[in-house]
Amino acid sequence: MCLAQLCKSPINYTGNKYRILPQFIKYFPKNVNKCMDLFTGGATVAINFIANEIIAVDNNPRVINLLKFLKKQDYDKLMNKIDNTIELYGLSNSYKNGYTYYKKYVEGNNGLKKYNIEGFNKLKKDYNALKNKNTDKANLYLYLLMIYAFNNDIRFNSKGEFNLPVGKTDMNKNNRNKLKRYIDICNDKKIEFICKDFRKINIKDFNDIEFIYADPPYLITDAVYNENDGWGKQEEIALLSMLDKLNNNGIKFALSNVLQKKNLNVKNEILYNWLEKNKEKYFINKIDYNYRSASYNKKNRDGLEEEVLITNYKVEE
Ligand SMILES: C[S@@+](CC[C@H](N)C(=O)[O-])C[C@H]1O[C@@H](n2cnc3c(N)ncnc32)[C@H](O)[C@@H]1O
Repeated sequence: MCLAQLCKSPINYTGNKYRILPQFIKYFPKNVNKCMDLFTGGATVAINFIANEIIAVDNNPRVINLLKFLKKQDYDKLMNKIDNTIELYGLSNSYKNGYTYYKKYVEGNNGLKKYNIEGFNKLKKDYNALKNKNTDKANLYLYLLMIYAFNNDIRFNSKGEFNLPVGKTDMNKNNRNKLKRYIDICNDKKIEFICKDFRKINIKDFNDIEFIYADPPYLITDAVYNENDGWGKQEEIALLSMLDKLNNNGIKFALSNVLQKKNLNVKNEILYNWLEKNKEKYFINKIDYNYRSASYNKKNRDGLEEEVLITNYKVEE
């Protein structure tokens, strides 16, 4: 499978695996009927799985609800609603009006920031004031907030409020294309989104699952989703014990992680010990950091983090 065929998520998610996906795909087992993406985040891996049935799990209700909401949409009708909301909030629409229309508002390399700041802040206030965050309106607002936010990111504070400032871009052609492809893929493939803590997943309920991909927050890196509800030693141990159970049940797994940060001399001791204990059963496949995007993790451009894909099967070359 080549990169050109891979699909980008409509959600620009911190830690998403798009750039290193071509490497993963060759490590993933072939001819899988049913599989699971256990920490799906923006669903980058889930939507690119080749399987008859895909189950995508994450414990972040906002992200799962947004993915579910976008999945069930008719693209043209959704775009109508999006364009109307953009107009309602006085946000830029460079796709419709052309970028030159907004040139006089552009200062330095701040893109559409100045033009959008007022409308974006109003949208953010209105979204944060909504009591129910899982209505069509709330999901549409959240999607637009992400599109117009700094780095097109999604981020909430400890009170659950969307808390990013305005960004430089808008609902441009690129974002429209990503959304359309995502909706098309969801119509073509059987993808189910489940909002659950991974510890609540009872593998017996999914006994026909053949392969599970796990991309948890990394214990020794400082990703943003560790900030609020945290990923600690307990979660790490629970996950590794779940993977052992999967292995005992004959289910294939692949686990993404970082073994060590070379510059800081920091090791994930729990993971190291687990691998040492299971060295006959589990395989460490090195991931080439050059595939990472510049925004993914700048610190790693020199390969200072040892990123790996751990599998309980030998990779078929
Ligand atoms: C590294 S990100 C996954 C990125 C994803 N593979 C992608 O390409 O977009 C890790 C995800 O784990 C989720 N998560 C954290 N703790 C969790 C838990 N206890 N159970 C389920 N998901 C959890 C976070 O919400 C986050 O989306």
